[in-house]
Amino acid sequence: VHPDEQKFFNTALGLVKSAGRIVREAFEQPASAVETKSSNTDLVTETDRAVERYLIDGLHAAFPDHKFIGEESVSGGAKIEWTDAPTWIIDPIDGTTNFVHRIPLIAICVGLSINKELRGGIVYNPITNELYTAQVGTGAFKNGFPIHASSTQDLSAAVVVTQLGSDRRPEMISSFIQSYQTLMLKHNAQGNRSFGSAAINMMMVAQGSVDGYIEYGIHAWDVAAAAVIIREAGGTIISPDGSPFNVMGRCVLCTGTPQLSSTISTNFTHVQFQAEA
Ligand code: IPD
Repeated sequence: VHPDEQKFFNTALGLVKSAGRIVREAFEQPASAVETKSSNTDLVTETDRAVERYLIDGLHAAFPDHKFIGEESVSGGAKIEWTDAPTWIIDPIDGTTNFVHRIPLIAICVGLSINKELRGGIVYNPITNELYTAQVGTGAFKNGFPIHASSTQDLSAAVVVTQLGSDRRPEMISSFIQSYQTLMLKHNAQGNRSFGSAAINMMMVAQGSVDGYIEYGIHAWDVAAAAVIIREAGGTIISPDGSPFNVMGRCVLCTGTPQLSSTISTNFTHVQFQAEA
């Protein structure tokens, strides 16, 4: 890793760990005000905003020419501008619904892209104290120990995460239900899970606890950091229709093996999404 890039990563890591304290303290208190964004299924709290502000202020002070794509800045009206400049793609709390319900499956996600390539990822659950990190070429780590995706090829031996996000259009629901049926009835998958945070779902794949994860409707900030970790853990990440993964493409399919991706991809009913940048 280039020394400059290492410095970027180390700075982000320090900020993410400190931001963890803000999230943990809020999590230990009774839930406070919750606001809705696009609908009653799309939530934001003052903690999401405070953590995003903290991370952006800290990174901006250290690297004034870096750019940002942050979930709450975008929902507050900022445009997604993805350029070749070093860009931090930030979700202050992935799994806000879990956070609001005090379900301890949430993650602070910070990804770094340079020349539009995802270079480093940090996914931190400050409640369970699980810190996942990876940079291109370094391997993937959980709390400093190497992690690896599973080698499962057959759906009948696989636990697969499917998740319905905040988008409840009828085509989303019917694709989700049909695909679930195919996985569970036609292919007799060993299990199905849904952890309520795209990044946590992906970390479950990265550490080999589950074998695959598919979701439509996600955003760049939910998956940018996690994508680097999946790849470095030896997993595969593509678009559910089989095309290459596009972090701005609003959908993701990741698995431990390409064989499993291919089976899931051919059995899914695909939904069209406009790329967000
Ligand atoms: C959401 C979570 C959820 C997923 C949604 C995401 P947020 O992110 O990752 O699990 O189903 O697609 O938007 O809003 O909690 O940061």
